[in-house]
Amino acid sequence: MSEPGNLHYFDYAATTPADPRVIESMIGCLGADGVFGNPASSSHAAGIAARDKVEHARQQVADLIGADVREIVWTSGATESNNLALKGYADMATGRRCHLVTSQIEHKAILDTMASLEKRGMTVTYLRPTDSGEITADAIAQAIGPQTGLVSLMLVNNEIGTLTDIAAIAPIVHAAGALLHVDAAQALGKTMIDVKALGIDLMSMSAHKVYGPKGIGALYVSREAAERIASQMHGGGHEFGLRSGTLATHQIVGMGMACELAAEKMASDTERIAGLSRHLLDAVLALGDVTQNAHLARRIPHTLSLTIGLPAFQTAMLGENLAVSSTSACNSAAGKPSHVLTAIGLDANAASRTVRLSFGRYTTRENVDYAIECFRRALNACRSKAVGTPISPGFSVAPQLKLDDLEAVRNQGFKAIICNRPDGEEPGQPTFSDIAEAAARLGIEARYLPVVSGKIGEDELASFVEYVETLPAPVLAYCRTGNRSGMLWNMSEPRRK
Ligand SMILES: Cc1ncc(COP(=O)(O)O)c(C=O)c1O
Repeated sequence: MSEPGNLHYFDYAATTPADPRVIESMIGCLGADGVFGNPASSSHAAGIAARDKVEHARQQVADLIGADVREIVWTSGATESNNLALKGYADMATGRRCHLVTSQIEHKAILDTMASLEKRGMTVTYLRPTDSGEITADAIAQAIGPQTGLVSLMLVNNEIGTLTDIAAIAPIVHAAGALLHVDAAQALGKTMIDVKALGIDLMSMSAHKVYGPKGIGALYVSREAAERIASQMHGGGHEFGLRSGTLATHQIVGMGMACELAAEKMASDTERIAGLSRHLLDAVLALGDVTQNAHLARRIPHTLSLTIGLPAFQTAMLGENLAVSSTSACNSAAGKPSHVLTAIGLDANAASRTVRLSFGRYTTRENVDYAIECFRRALNACRSKAVGTPISPGFSVAPQLKLDDLEAVRNQGFKAIICNRPDGEEPGQPTFSDIAEAAARLGIEARYLPVVSGKIGEDELASFVEYVETLPAPVLAYCRTGNRSGMLWNMSEPRRK
């Protein structure tokens, strides 16, 4: 496992660490000395103080997106917001306007919810994106009809970072008398959102993507849309009757603070991130055999999707200290390639060689340089010829290894290496301890058994046999040309079990 201190984090689209000011604001709502009351307890000061905090946070969220404060409904996150918007609409739509429109590149929280509505008799059109990952206003205009009740699209795609042109799409949706729901989980705090100017009726948000805590989100419900949405959580009638349940003051306060900070920092964060992301992209593209997905589309700079064109590439080759997402590999539960990447035309193989890097507030130039180096090493390892000559199942020999060879050694499945030449035998060769250190990082065991050329004695043979029989196989032994290691193997044959 990598140590947290060694980690170079490029997975901000998955989640972000809470900002210190968010943490501080949340702590103030937990203990006996803090604002711990139930915001619904309106008869005493503890409850009133908590309600004030909740309402202040509601205002902070509303301010970030240009909404009215009464249009913000607290939920547990964007998944719940998406469910509330879609199922809430479906419940009220009984019998009329039962056609919904969405796209093939939405988050599973939309796609699976849509699938559940299809089982209830609604019809759903799943629009194909263009090859560069965009859903166009034209595609919406063609799909929409008099029976369409709701269109749901994401503002920013979580895998490829494409931006949907909501301003162009909203008038088409409204002209057809339908509602427009936007999943803004990946957009909040990264791009300006003004729900009124964009013409959004319902919008899902999540705090943990924007340096707030996990487990809290909100649904923007415009005044007009509120009448067309049914509650999915029944109980005490909280949240204007749309979502019952005791409000989690500390979470809500954390989300409010995160939104205030987002408004404050969005422009400078984005400018800095754009520079870092451009630098990484240029450097990695220059290594060759790398293509950027959706490069022709309007995109946010925070998310890069890169496909490596070398068949041997696996995301694990980048090393565990580089925290990226293999959007591609498989949607873990489903065991299938990413639906987003296949929708934009990648085959399953290319999808499995795709890496998502997402940048955030704490990404540094050092992180970026580290990532570039990881790509350089991985690509070299993919391109390098096979390392070692097998002389028995489980045992191979090789000439002097270079540090750059170790990825290939690991990729060929070697579990252990033995060095059979003394350090310093020739100038410029990596020392055994350098090799052993790099090997350890890749989970390969390394042993030092130096043999001076032509002097293989009883002690050397005994140690060699011990290593070969106790180290995990397959083992790769190396010396200047590979010959000494081969001789050790042959001469020790009578001693091996
Ligand atoms: C586009 C999009 N929608 C919805 C979600 C779900 O958000 P949450 O984790 O708040 O439920 C995510 C999170 O990955 C997302 O990227």
